[in-house]
Amino acid sequence: MTRAKTNDPAMRDCGVIFDYYDTDKNKFHSYGPAYDSILTHEFRRSARNVMEVGIADGRGLLSWREIFPGAMCVGLDKEPCNCERGPRLEFHVGDQGDRGACLRAVADRQFDFICEDASHVLANNLLTLFYLWPFIRPGGYYVIEEMQDVTQYRDNVEQLFYGARLLDTVGPVGGGNEPLVILHKSGGKRK
Ligand SMILES: C[S@@+](CC[C@H](N)C(=O)[O-])C[C@H]1O[C@@H](n2cnc3c(N)ncnc32)[C@H](O)[C@@H]1O
Repeated sequence: MTRAKTNDPAMRDCGVIFDYYDTDKNKFHSYGPAYDSILTHEFRRSARNVMEVGIADGRGLLSWREIFPGAMCVGLDKEPCNCERGPRLEFHVGDQGDRGACLRAVADRQFDFICEDASHVLANNLLTLFYLWPFIRPGGYYVIEEMQDVTQYRDNVEQLFYGARLLDTVGPVGGGNEPLVILHKSGGKRK
């Protein structure tokens, strides 16, 4: 991890932010350290567009808004979200398996980071990844939380998305059998 040079004391660790907004991302799934290991402060500061698929009451989206202080935070969920409205928050209603819904949320933008935390059904994971991956900018990340059966299918994902790096954090960091799958698009400047 190369965070020392660019560490910003004003930026809180992801786990602290997740707990502050009372998401399950850190307290149940222990994802904070995994996110901190890939999202350098420089990357967080430079991000312009991020998306979460599966937003429920918006706790994750509010967390991303703090984690990425300059980014538009776009949410997509099949249900309307009751989350507070505010600066840098955008909400879309639609199914993650519906290409049209995914593309409406994208609105021709390139994304630095997309987190998929919706149905946790493999077919939907793959459909959404298939629809949204082209809109991850080179050097950006696409993350699937609580992906089921990743061990069985990780070779398929790596081969399908050639050049992507797939990490999973099964074990103490990833929360046992609920791995965090991180795809890093090759190219771009690593920040
Ligand atoms: C685990 S909750 C999301 C929690 C949120 N990411 C957080 O960190 O606070 C899952 C959400 O995914 C949504 N969802 C489930 N299936 C979906 C689908 N097929 N398309 C879009 N959203 C879906 C549900 O409506 C629910 O709001």
